[in-house]
Amino acid sequence: MKQLHKQSGLIHRSRDEEISPKAPKHPRSLPRSLHYIFREQRLLFVLVGILIGSSFFIVHPSLFHLGPHDSRPRTTFSVSSSSDRFAGITQPRHRPGLRVPVQIGQRRKRIVVTGGAGFVGSHLVDKLIARGDDVIVIDNFFTGRKENVVRHFGNPRFELVRHDVVEPILLEVDQIYHLACPASPVHYKYNPIKTIISFFNLLQLGNFRFGDVSQVAEIYKTNVMGTLNMLGLAKRIGARFLLTSTSEVYGDPLEHPQKETYWGNVNPIGVRSCYDEGKRTAETLAMDYHRGADVEVRIARIFNTYGPRMCLDDGRVVSNFVAQAIRKQPLTVYGDGKQTRSFQYVSDLVDGLVALMEGEHVGPFNLGNPGEFTMLELAEVVKETIDPSATIEFKPNTADDPHKRKPDISKAKELLNWEPKISLREGLPRMVSDFRNRILNENEGKGL
Ligand SMILES: NC(=O)c1ccc[n+]([C@@H]2O[C@H](COP(=O)([O-])OP(=O)(O)OC[C@H]3O[C@@H](n4cnc5c(N)ncnc54)[C@H](O)[C@@H]3O)[C@@H](O)[C@H]2O)c1
Repeated sequence: MKQLHKQSGLIHRSRDEEISPKAPKHPRSLPRSLHYIFREQRLLFVLVGILIGSSFFIVHPSLFHLGPHDSRPRTTFSVSSSSDRFAGITQPRHRPGLRVPVQIGQRRKRIVVTGGAGFVGSHLVDKLIARGDDVIVIDNFFTGRKENVVRHFGNPRFELVRHDVVEPILLEVDQIYHLACPASPVHYKYNPIKTIISFFNLLQLGNFRFGDVSQVAEIYKTNVMGTLNMLGLAKRIGARFLLTSTSEVYGDPLEHPQKETYWGNVNPIGVRSCYDEGKRTAETLAMDYHRGADVEVRIARIFNTYGPRMCLDDGRVVSNFVAQAIRKQPLTVYGDGKQTRSFQYVSDLVDGLVALMEGEHVGPFNLGNPGEFTMLELAEVVKETIDPSATIEFKPNTADDPHKRKPDISKAKELLNWEPKISLREGLPRMVSDFRNRILNENEGKGL
């Protein structure tokens, strides 16, 4: 009998257990029912979760782009090639009908400017900082000066690093403007051939061998090793890279005006060749990194540029004439003065560099002012602007001085929507007050 009771008790319990999930009013059964719902309907919950998550990110697309190094809001970008994560950086894709977060299309970029304490570099830095970007200047102050960027000291968006680009450096940035290179004849001719390329350097150069050459001009080293290091950095961090090449790649041109398709007429063993051939090699390196390693490169071929902050006495014709006229010295004309050049004001160049960097075309692009002047005509404009009583002194011409230079800028006009705006007569007076002030303190103007 006891056994029977026990059994019926067991039967009772098991019935209770069976029916308990179906008894909704029982207070202890609530968690169980929830558990049941979660277990049976979990697919539904997952789907609802995904829906809520997606709507959140659609409304706040900038959150997709938060990276470990940047907590600022960004936008979505259209990407033109899978290997290039910055290809569409200038083309924010706004979805119609959706709320656009504030600051879309205005994301602050992190930008390195090598040679940013120099003449062109410092004007470029001014523009980038004014635009709202974070700028890191790398400069070894060979020809650049701290004074050129001193206005940005104390600005948290500005950093200045004393560094020689011949040595590697690692930074996390979106764009690299590579300007570092002494650009004036005085500096690149004065520098003796002094640098013995070590075996290590030859190895680093990979395919770019110099045969048995054991020495190379410092300027060549800066162009080659500096460019190589910066391209390596661009490759490593996926940054876009802009090379400031030069019209000197055309040498003493046999085509006039010079189009980008012209391959040039350069003396490979002359006194200027460390600069000319250095830049030509830098272009080669840039294109090989572009083709072989998918680095987003941009190449600018810059024609004679002038403006405030040029080095005094650096052998460039505009700065020479202006400094001489202010000092009441005769203007030195080399040769017969009939050789031609075209002169671009620095703000036009900076606009062109930024348009090139932000655009979708590799180049090379000629960036220069097509207005063509003989040296004697330039001397006349300088006299009109500074001192009509200034005299001209003729000296023998320097070796390999090109007879004429004039950019054909139709490619930049068409593809970058860029052309210079400031004529020589407008631009020249803008550099005079800067030169006057610096000439007052001659020691400051050495740029060293
Ligand atoms: N100004 C022009 O008319 C002109 C024409 C053609 C090309 N460019 C090119 O534009 C760029 C800027 O020219 P710029 O006129 O401003 O010359 P610049 O001499 O005023 O500036 C060059 C800067 O690079 C720095 N630099 C040089 N070697 C370096 C190194 N190894 N490591 C780090 N920094 C270094 C210098 O200190 C200087 O601040 C150069 O690459 C030049 O070849 C200029």
